[in-house]
Amino acid sequence: MAKRKRRVAPTVGAGSIAVSHPPVQPGLVSSRRVVPAGVERPPYALMPGGEPHPPTSSPVRTREELEAMRRTGALAAEILIATCEHVRVGMTSDAIDRFVHDASVAAGAYPSPLGYRGFPKSVCTSVNEVICHGIPDSRRLASGDIINIDVTVYREGVHGDTSVTLMIGEPDDHSRRLVTETRVALYEGIGTVVAGAQVSDIGRAIQNHAFKHNLGVVREFIGHGVGTEFHSGLQVPHYYDRRHSTVLAEGMTFTIEPMLTLGSPQVDMWDDGWTAVTVDGRRTAQFEHTLVCTPNGAEILTQTAAGECAHELFTEPVD
Ligand code: MF3
Ligand code: CO
Ligand code: CO
Repeated sequence: MAKRKRRVAPTVGAGSIAVSHPPVQPGLVSSRRVVPAGVERPPYALMPGGEPHPPTSSPVRTREELEAMRRTGALAAEILIATCEHVRVGMTSDAIDRFVHDASVAAGAYPSPLGYRGFPKSVCTSVNEVICHGIPDSRRLASGDIINIDVTVYREGVHGDTSVTLMIGEPDDHSRRLVTETRVALYEGIGTVVAGAQVSDIGRAIQNHAFKHNLGVVREFIGHGVGTEFHSGLQVPHYYDRRHSTVLAEGMTFTIEPMLTLGSPQVDMWDDGWTAVTVDGRRTAQFEHTLVCTPNGAEILTQTAAGECAHELFTEPVD
């Protein structure tokens, strides 16, 4: 029998595969960690409630800012790699937070999430059906979990923002596929970046890859301009909409950070006001880089001086 061509978009979240793991439950959040007085703080960290100023920075960096972003980006990459090397089955996300916090301040950097709009911790840790902005707490990683670790640091007046999804112990095949294809989707998006391209080219490439693999694309959280501000005006959706016609220019710095889902990409929010989860409880993964747009393509800023990042070093489960 001849194979029939698929004519319709794949349905996502049809619910054919049951959720096979217990839902993530909030744990206890430890008290606020201290940043030594000598470490330069981003402006929002000095504001009540951590409220940033409305974004005012140019989407394009000066040469000096770009040099600083290479150094701060490399630091974020190094901290993320070191953190992944440290992660074990049975570890709490609070211990991951302590590690990221201590590594950041030891390098003279401020851990950007700490106090940002009131976020209580120094890193975001998002497990299984948590899409993003998970707050580190007393929950212990179990074999089979997946966890996104999203590190942002501020040094020399600029931020570097990067995340990876790690598999713990023995993940099931769906989780492996989700994590692998979300990583590929990020690089498909990065591959479209070049001066003269449009922001919509990024989302189109990511969405095409996701749909080809029957994965959903979260729409509520998007990539963003990043530089002297944690989140600047530029918006980088991971889905396609031809109205996203902003033209990419040399020197623009921004993140790409797709969140893909095994089921429906619909978002629910925990009462803590931060933890975003899938409505259907199925798993989700995310990978993130900070980039600068050049005439020849994207230059990845969140990689080490040797050109390494956690994405390629941790493609297999850790235990
Ligand atoms: N690092 C996240 C991002 O990719 C932002 C975290 S904001 C926080 O944009 F407040 F949750 F830390
Ligand atoms: Co980001
Ligand atoms: Co991030």
